[in-house]
Amino acid sequence: MSAQKKRIRKAVLPVAGLGTRFLPATKAVPKEMLTVVDRPVVQHVVDEARAAGIEHFIFVTGRNKGVIEDHFDNQFELEATLSSRNKTKELEALLADLPGAGQTSFTRQQAPLGLGHAVWCARDIVGDEPFALLLPDMLHHGKTPCLKDMMDAYAERGGNYIAVSPVPEDQTHQYGIVGVEDAKAKVSGITQMIEKPPKGTAPSNLHITGRYILQPEIFGLLATQERGAGGEIQLTDSMIKLMAAQPFHAVTFDGEIYDTGSKIGFLMANVVYALDREDIGPQLKAELKRLL
Ligand code: UTP
Repeated sequence: MSAQKKRIRKAVLPVAGLGTRFLPATKAVPKEMLTVVDRPVVQHVVDEARAAGIEHFIFVTGRNKGVIEDHFDNQFELEATLSSRNKTKELEALLADLPGAGQTSFTRQQAPLGLGHAVWCARDIVGDEPFALLLPDMLHHGKTPCLKDMMDAYAERGGNYIAVSPVPEDQTHQYGIVGVEDAKAKVSGITQMIEKPPKGTAPSNLHITGRYILQPEIFGLLATQERGAGGEIQLTDSMIKLMAAQPFHAVTFDGEIYDTGSKIGFLMANVVYALDREDIGPQLKAELKRLL
């Protein structure tokens, strides 16, 4: 099997950002632990990765993020109490959310130097194999898990993948943008990539949504990547370099994307995910109708 088609077993979840857009909520609580309905945002993303077949979760954490590690561990007192009170359903649900023994790794990004740097911090744990990368604050709400679609495309063609979705033309300067061979195709070759293009210069309106499948050669490029947009070490800049040597494909996600690191994205995600739920959806719908 060629190196660019090796099975994807590991996912990197960078959770070391400061979450400045969500202060003061994120002063002591990591933004990834804010809840969308009754699950922390990061749990929703781990759910997506597990549904796509990921077996090992690598969290790149930082200061004040220890609670994320605790969340993905057993909580003996709680489990014993649920058990002694015969709350079997609750206990089973809690345990079902946990990755198995040895299926998580945690490493630290000592300073938040940018997404590219956070990914580079995972290099030794990922090793010499392709991996998935999921930005835990970006919730992808659709019929099939976004990463699953990407894994299916990868299984056919190998290479590198980036999930994309259209944004209004006047907002392209706020995002990482790709140009593609065929904007109408679900999977298409990427021809160009640019982080936050100046207004009026974007090659398309397809923005990078926060899900990737990358070959391990990205790490060597990140190691020497100079700072880019916003003074941060940008993943996009190293992906542009890798694109000179390896194919990159865009997978258009057909669903809604919520940036839970922004207040409006977070609130919308809560409404949409709650409306999906059989236990509270109908009541919430009635309450919202009454309110509006
Ligand atoms: P964001 O761009 O949302 O940055 O990062 P942020 O710092 O967390 O949030 P704001 O803009 O200050 O509100 C996208 C993802 O990359 C991670 C974040 O944790 C988030 O999941 N990240 C970002 C890191 O792990 N390290 C960094 O240096 C930057």
